[in-house]
Amino acid sequence: MKTVHRTPSFTLTRDTAAELERDFILIPLFESDDLTDATMARLAGPDVDQARTRGELTGKLYEVFLSVVPTGDRARRVAFVGAGPRKDFTAERLRRLAITGGLAARRGRFTKVGFVYRASDRLDAPTAVQVIAEGLTIANFEGASYRSDGEPCVLLESAEIRLATSGAAEDAALAKGIVLGESTNITRELANEPGNHLTPRRFAERAVEIATGTGLKVDVLDEERIASLNMGLLLGVARGSQEPPRLVVLSHEPANAISGVTLGLVGKGITFDTGGISIKPAENMDKMKDDMSGGAAVIAALAAIARLKVPVRCLGIVPMTENMPGGKAVKPGDVLTSAAGKTVEILNTDAEGRLVLGDGVWYARQLGATHLIDVATLTGACVVALGKTTSGLFGTPEEWVAQVQQASDRAGDRSWPMPVFDDYKEQLKSEIADFTNTGGRAGGAITGALFIREFAGDLPWVHIDIAGTAWAEETKPYQPKGATGVAVRTLVEVALAADSWSKLNVSA
Ligand code: BES
Ligand code: MN
Ligand code: ZN
Repeated sequence: MKTVHRTPSFTLTRDTAAELERDFILIPLFESDDLTDATMARLAGPDVDQARTRGELTGKLYEVFLSVVPTGDRARRVAFVGAGPRKDFTAERLRRLAITGGLAARRGRFTKVGFVYRASDRLDAPTAVQVIAEGLTIANFEGASYRSDGEPCVLLESAEIRLATSGAAEDAALAKGIVLGESTNITRELANEPGNHLTPRRFAERAVEIATGTGLKVDVLDEERIASLNMGLLLGVARGSQEPPRLVVLSHEPANAISGVTLGLVGKGITFDTGGISIKPAENMDKMKDDMSGGAAVIAALAAIARLKVPVRCLGIVPMTENMPGGKAVKPGDVLTSAAGKTVEILNTDAEGRLVLGDGVWYARQLGATHLIDVATLTGACVVALGKTTSGLFGTPEEWVAQVQQASDRAGDRSWPMPVFDDYKEQLKSEIADFTNTGGRAGGAITGALFIREFAGDLPWVHIDIAGTAWAEETKPYQPKGATGVAVRTLVEVALAADSWSKLNVSA
């Protein structure tokens, strides 16, 4: 069994909580809730009151308390999901509670869930519906298993969200939440895939499959077309591998697009990173199968943007290759010429992401991008700087970086800005070429970003380093181990905000 994920069939209802015909009813419970409001009183059985007094049911963040519903109700279980202090409640919390609750339902083998959202729960109803739908969809994901004796896993079949209001805004929010949840799962599925299964060629085929039916235009460039564009950096990285490279271009060109702007999204698509001749140590090298997470996020984001019919022209560009130490591999000291004409002295073949992105960013500009974002598992240095929960943001001008950061907040992808002062450029000076591909240990995430900036010209550009955030090494209540799908929702939120940034005077 490979990765499985399914979107539960969602319905919205204003029925009282007790009327929900559901196996499993999820209710966020704040620490301060006293269980006497009407909703709670109908659902809380005697065991709940006792549990509250005993301190077993506290409302602490992500606590799950399962209760047998009182007789007369048709639901079989009520699960109170701890929502923490009411004053700290946010959309991101609610998304995480929905994930936590959805995973709890699946563990208990329940497939028909209800989610009770009380009007007093602080967020407006459309926002709540959106993030609950996202969360329950994200919970409905089981990472790749190639075990021959694997038991089939339980997935949610349907989910009914109970709210105090209904209308067009709630319906639209549900549709958006479903698309965002699904695009997160598509990204996770791709990033989880082993390197021998998801080769560059297979990755490109998956991109085509994902784009099919969305209205996106797809162009897959093979090694010959990549060569005819003189993409010496992408070809240089690909030389060490038996697998040919690919360059996938997805375009979203809606008839009602805002005039004058094209969002160019470029994702790192290294399907496996051995480090090349500057080979990585054995420990944890297996994790480098996720080195295409940025590319996966770009592909899934383009599909989501098309499905949501976002009125802005968008390009998704993903250079795909392995980084292997084959006999023809690029060597330290070699000089490569990029499609943009700039020459690069390779000092470390493990700094391959910036190389393929250099040619990718150049191509985005060739195809008319006016605003650039690249997403990459680029540097270990970014993991050192910001840890495993926060992606690094690098770019110019500040207004454009701020747009991406705000989008990431709405998406529930934490990110934080890092400096890109010109002073750091010194570290990329080469004696024989325009620049080197590494700037040493100091400020390693920043010099990686500055390398990519060399190819962005004067366009507004942001680089998102997801080296720390793309993969979860430990299970959290709201985040199973494995690929996280980070950045895909951020990219979609940026596209959705085109109205605000297309008017910004953002020449870098
Ligand atoms: N894919 C890695 C970055 C990475 C490291 C991602 C750890 C996730 C976890 C990237 O290609 C790489 O190897 N970067 C080098 C750059 C260095 C040689 C300048 C690094 O970070 O060590
Ligand atoms: Mn590398
Ligand atoms: Zn890499």
